[in-house]
Amino acid sequence: MSALLSTVSLLLCLQGVPALDLFRVTRTPADAPIIPRVHCWCNSYPDTTLCSWPETSHEPHTHYITTYRERHGHPMTNNCLVIPPTPRSPSSGSSSSSDQEWLCQLSDLKLFTDYIINVTAVSPAGSSSFLSGLMMEDIVKPDPPVDVRVSLQNKRHLLVEWSPPSSWRDLEIFPLKYHIRYQWENRGSPKSVNLGPFESTSVELKGLSPGRQYQLQVCSRELMGLGSCSDWSSPVYITVPRTNP
Ligand SMILES: *[C@@H]1O[C@H](CO)[C@@H](O)[C@H](O)[C@H]1NC(C)=O
Repeated sequence: MSALLSTVSLLLCLQGVPALDLFRVTRTPADAPIIPRVHCWCNSYPDTTLCSWPETSHEPHTHYITTYRERHGHPMTNNCLVIPPTPRSPSSGSSSSSDQEWLCQLSDLKLFTDYIINVTAVSPAGSSSFLSGLMMEDIVKPDPPVDVRVSLQNKRHLLVEWSPPSSWRDLEIFPLKYHIRYQWENRGSPKSVNLGPFESTSVELKGLSPGRQYQLQVCSRELMGLGSCSDWSSPVYITVPRTNP
């Protein structure tokens, strides 16, 4: 295992490539579907890589052919399993479909291997392809930590605790590290402090001001720094009590 880890960190030093290098889009003829805006990320290294793109409500008869293959070497094309957006029930209110996303899952990607993904929108009028290079290590982005809790320890210390995202499968071989952000307002202007990385799932914060309300959030990142930190977790608020006279 340590041999793999050192290979990973060596290769990390050598790469400096953009996360998704878009190299071609094609759309023919002019009334063909619009080119899907595809976004890919790996939320459980090295098991799960997902790509998503928005549903286009004005092109109802569009379907998608989604394939990927190694950029160099093996010419075999794999199908990415496509999951359509969940139909919104009429009772759910909002008529906007902007947050409706198609999803597809790439399986068995090899480590440190360049792939080409091809998402082709097909409608009766024609087809449009989104083509991009991707390497899993560049696009690692875990889901945010869950179950963030904060409690008061002896007047001015806060204990922040959280759990790793359940989607990250192998915490033993690929551990996560965490960053904390806490924010407050000082006479109307927002202040923010980032701390970390931490390898534990709890941290004690000291030197906080009595009477002040803090907002706390945590993000998770692959331990060696592959890819990026997750989105911030949903905020948790706590007010540090004023000390008794
Ligand atoms: C992308 O996929 C479409 C649909 O399978 C195919 O027609 C097209 O040739 C592919 N493009 C490339 C460059 O492989």
